[in-house]
Amino acid sequence: MNQHINPTINLKILGIETSCDETAAAVYTTEQGVLSNELFSQIELQKEFGGVVPEIASRSHLEKINPIVELALNKANITLDQIDVIAVTTKPGLPGSLLIGLGFAKALSYAKNKPIIGINHLEGHAFSSFLDSTPPFPHICITASGGHSSLYLITDYGRYQTIGETLDDAAGEAFDKIAKFLGLAYPGGPIIERLAREANFQDFFNYPRGAKDTLNFSFSGLKTAVLYDLVKQNLFDLKTKQLTTLVSHELQVKIASSLLKCIRDIFCNKINLALKKYPEIKAVTFVGGVACNKYLKQELRELCEARQIQFFSPAGQYCTDNAAMIALVGHYKAQQNKFDNLALDIF
Ligand code: KG4
Ligand code: ZN
Repeated sequence: MNQHINPTINLKILGIETSCDETAAAVYTTEQGVLSNELFSQIELQKEFGGVVPEIASRSHLEKINPIVELALNKANITLDQIDVIAVTTKPGLPGSLLIGLGFAKALSYAKNKPIIGINHLEGHAFSSFLDSTPPFPHICITASGGHSSLYLITDYGRYQTIGETLDDAAGEAFDKIAKFLGLAYPGGPIIERLAREANFQDFFNYPRGAKDTLNFSFSGLKTAVLYDLVKQNLFDLKTKQLTTLVSHELQVKIASSLLKCIRDIFCNKINLALKKYPEIKAVTFVGGVACNKYLKQELRELCEARQIQFFSPAGQYCTDNAAMIALVGHYKAQQNKFDNLALDIF
């Protein structure tokens, strides 16, 4: 057990997350871990825009925050009075969305006289694999979501450093943008995985893997390569930024399959490089929305096992945005007595 964590203090944490397009609340306790993990996803609301419209996101958070927090407390069979600490995402994210969760958490904290801790959303993702497993330290974490792609070296609860990050698009963003080029719905990741499975993840187009000697990611070359292939085949008009005709299912499958193979190779290369650079690493964790991808999960697991490194990737509900990971970070920060209200600065 980590020296900062005192399991004899039984804390009950309410986590609140509204950084993007999910209104989420969860209850986490020292004794029982996650007692509830509830969310309202705006995917249906945002679908027709092919991405997240900030104004719509804020309005929806405002509508859903009360019922979601109430649901999380009810499912955990706990009252607000029994909660010891409120943990809320303060950054990074859409300011208008963050402010709804933060304002709500501050109101609860004021009304019920409960301490509040501001949580960095990315620290939430980075430690999300602790929600259903216990990775050993030190380990590296690949966080791949719609907004972020980062590599962290994690040495303890709350102790981590960024050893690689994306220089342009995030991995999830690449899936979403390429899906849009192909005339597929938002979010693109799950649809691309389904299509790629039809071709058994074969590589048809050998898309660029980017620089091999850096821990940083870059996905915009890949996105441009797909786009220019469509332009060359007169399927996409760069002036109107629209498809000129529907992309055939066969081509969608080939592109999706090649794309996943390419992203698989990029992630495997980063792991190999990180293991070389940090030989003390005992495990790899794979988190964020893109870690819902079963093919990538399996491929990364196989690579780690072949190198005798443990591999962890949380259940899907903890990969995509959720409040359980915010409550978990709030829990160890409370155990470490880090009630730092300055962290409530959202920018
Ligand atoms: O972590 P998340 O819910 O939100 C952010 O913090 O951004 O991640 C959402 C992203 C989207 O870009 C979505 O396309 C991607 O995760 N995603 C996937 C899969 N499921 C979700 N990407 C690849 N394969 C999937 N199965
Ligand atoms: Zn996220």
